[in-house]
Amino acid sequence: MEDESKLRAFEARIEAGEKIEPKDWMPERYRKQLIRMISQHAHSEIVGMLPEGNWITRAPSLRRKMGLLAKVQDEAGHGLYLYCSAETLGVDRSEVVDQLLYGTAKYSSIFNYPTLTWADIGTIGWLVDGAAIVNQTMLAKCSYGPYSRANIRICKEENFHKKQGYEIVATMAKGTPEQKRMVQDAVNRWWWPSLTMFGPPDKDSPNSAELMKWQVKLQSNDELRQRFVNLTVPQASVVGVALPDPDLKYNSKTGNWDFGALNWDEFFAVIKGNGPCNRQRMRARRIAHENGKWVRDAAGAYAAKKRAA
Ligand code: 3HC
Repeated sequence: MEDESKLRAFEARIEAGEKIEPKDWMPERYRKQLIRMISQHAHSEIVGMLPEGNWITRAPSLRRKMGLLAKVQDEAGHGLYLYCSAETLGVDRSEVVDQLLYGTAKYSSIFNYPTLTWADIGTIGWLVDGAAIVNQTMLAKCSYGPYSRANIRICKEENFHKKQGYEIVATMAKGTPEQKRMVQDAVNRWWWPSLTMFGPPDKDSPNSAELMKWQVKLQSNDELRQRFVNLTVPQASVVGVALPDPDLKYNSKTGNWDFGALNWDEFFAVIKGNGPCNRQRMRARRIAHENGKWVRDAAGAYAAKKRAA
């Protein structure tokens, strides 16, 4: 009975647009859903450093190298804000990191695709960071205070990443025939995974109803996917690259760009660990974690010494 009245008060606060803070009462399902989602988001930021980090030593100029370095460092920072945000819900960081390293936690499907040429770096900034911004601008308004505030900051930085990527795409799209070919090839490969990144269709999304009821999500997977397509089609035409979908067509009745069927079999295979780079990504993360052990040990020992002093 007590929980019933607490639940009603909790839902009334959300209805009134108040933020829920770490020490406030919350239903166990809300806590669990947030830990799942925030830790998955944190893992995505960290694993997302790998496909791009791969190009730091091969960036075509010093300016490009500096931009890419800063972007990859920003992603590490996002991972840290998000792990801190998950910790406010009472979970230990090492526990969620272990879930990633031992394969029980998911991270974004998108980072299981390879970065074959420099044009992939521009295309990821434009499409992948662009898709992330659409999703995270919504999450910046979510009902859980620490996650909402983390996303406000993340979106500011992701906007810079998107501009940087779009500028690379624009430069290559008006470059030599080889550069044009490279950029078109990268867009052909990243377009469809960027759309499935928003998650399964609403009818197949088991978590959406609960997350929307508690205003963690304010829009559904399909609504966000459509918003991303609507924003991106004109951007593609400005730089003169083609989006690889013969069914892409403006629908004057709905005001949306209709698009072709997505490959959900591929998406589910990727999130089950069978994408082109899943094993490579996890191997790299496990090695990095092992190599970072001495830093964690030293930081832990320093903190313990300060507490004792
Ligand atoms: N990749 C991997 N798994 C995915 C996925 C994706 N693109 N989309 C959905 N899933 C998983 C869900 O996690 C869920 O699995 P689980 O129940 O075992 O955890 C299952 O598929 C069913 O999907 P649902 O639609 O029911 O799941 P959600 O309601 O949680 O929606 C989501 C999925 C849209 C990814 C949502 O969790 C979300 O918005 N998460 C926070 C944002 C995030 O993680 N973004 C990652 C982007 S990467 C990034 O921002 C890095 C930047 O540098 C580009």
